[in-house]
Amino acid sequence: MTSSVAPPSVVAELMAGLRADLRAADFTVDGIAALLGPVANAALGREQMLPADLATRDTEAALPTLVRLFALGKTVAAQTVSAAVPSTGGIEGLCRLGLVRVEGEEVVATCDLRPHGDETHLWWVSSDLSEISTQAPLAPDHVLGIGGASTTLAGWTPRPTVATALDLGTGCGVQALHLAPHAGSVVATDLSERALAFARFNAALNDVDLDLRPGSLFDPVAGQRFELVVSNPPFVITPRVAEMPLFEYRDGGLAGDALVEAVARSIGQHLQPGGIGQFLGNWEVAAGADWRDRVRAWFDGSGLDVWVVQRDVQDPAQYAELWARDGGHLPGTPGFERMYAAWLADFAARGVDSIGFGVVTVQRPATQRDTWVELVEESGPVAAPMGPAILAGLRARTWLAEHGDQGALSTAWRCAEDVTEERHSLPGAQDPSVIVVRQGAGLRRAVRVDTVMAAFVSVCDGELTAGQALGAIAALLERPVDEVRAGALPVIRELVADGFLIR
Ligand SMILES: C[S@@+](CC[C@H](N)C(=O)[O-])C[C@H]1O[C@@H](n2cnc3c(N)ncnc32)[C@H](O)[C@@H]1O
Repeated sequence: MTSSVAPPSVVAELMAGLRADLRAADFTVDGIAALLGPVANAALGREQMLPADLATRDTEAALPTLVRLFALGKTVAAQTVSAAVPSTGGIEGLCRLGLVRVEGEEVVATCDLRPHGDETHLWWVSSDLSEISTQAPLAPDHVLGIGGASTTLAGWTPRPTVATALDLGTGCGVQALHLAPHAGSVVATDLSERALAFARFNAALNDVDLDLRPGSLFDPVAGQRFELVVSNPPFVITPRVAEMPLFEYRDGGLAGDALVEAVARSIGQHLQPGGIGQFLGNWEVAAGADWRDRVRAWFDGSGLDVWVVQRDVQDPAQYAELWARDGGHLPGTPGFERMYAAWLADFAARGVDSIGFGVVTVQRPATQRDTWVELVEESGPVAAPMGPAILAGLRARTWLAEHGDQGALSTAWRCAEDVTEERHSLPGAQDPSVIVVRQGAGLRRAVRVDTVMAAFVSVCDGELTAGQALGAIAALLERPVDEVRAGALPVIRELVADGFLIR
């Protein structure tokens, strides 16, 4: 079964008018938040429509009309809709664009359309209506709107100015829209022609140029290299059995985590020297195994720097519950139970004990040097957006790889402004038993330090080189300087890599 509703079409002479109407109505992230108020707006974010429905029922103004039509999937009086989009040519224009269907005196949206923004940009993004709007199961070729994974990836993406960028598995085009302001050109690919139609419409609506290409994985960009590659691939591990519905948006059709492995193994061939790649993924962890070994092996011989941050771990049952619900199946229904059992059997067949989720960032070195590989677990809250910290982290790690311990020792480090120190003592004790340095930004890490490193961090004001500071601390503590240096250097490297210490 494929979707019976056609995606919207680009009608060149109507795109600017629609943009103008959406802007004039203040159909923006902030405009909708102000209209709905915090409770209804937060509920809408959780896909609970009722509070927003109640808040927009008794008014015919343009903004509530557009919210009811496109975000809530409600039928709205044709006359009211026409008045909300004068520059698009009213209902007739919306019909030509394939955004609505007329039912007698009323109009109903044929797709979801919502504002989406970051700190400095505003876009409008169309996608298929959710199952809450349609009250029907999702079609296999459903084109997903902006979900949690989309915003995670957009938030974590490092955003240097680049000449060329690639969004693999673009869906409605959300990552490509985020890339466009800082990339000279953006190629966006998808296996699904339907997804590409939405991406084409969204590009035109936002007046953004995208090079859209159909095809699987990296096939559409064979032989091509980019400065930045991002992908929110269809990473959901899905049992390959008949009772599982296939959703193109989340399931790459391979067994286990093979699709994520394929992205990992190929991405390096499409990165320029100095180029950065980033993707989200799930990975399977067998009983007794360490997730790091599995993910690290995907990059063996790749010649890439690799930085993996595992953000979450689920057991097979938690994973099955999450993804059975995501497909619109409720606990207790026969469909839910069948899928749940299929997931448990699939994981058991491969001896999978847990499933990791994380953000993978890779870089092709621009110079001849050793690569670095770092796989960490950070499940707590992080800075939003994380992209700037990822970019700073890549640069710091690259600097360390290029300059080594000698470079670290001859640099006068400064402690970053977001770093604080905590000292914990046993009641009545004179000296602290635990000293922790904590960062307020980036990964918001806390690192336990010894007295040498606590003293070192406290003198990092950009005056003394690390070598000079460690020499003075060693003299003060009456300890051999070599021993103090050897103990401190790995921690200095760690603090530099994660932005506690900056140049
Ligand atoms: C999770 S969605 C991501 C959509 C969007 N990039 C985002 O961040 O929200 C994954 C996308 O990958 C596409 N896809 C599925 N299999 C693919 C394949 N083998 N090659 C390329 N894209 C694929 C799906 O059609 C879907 O649009």
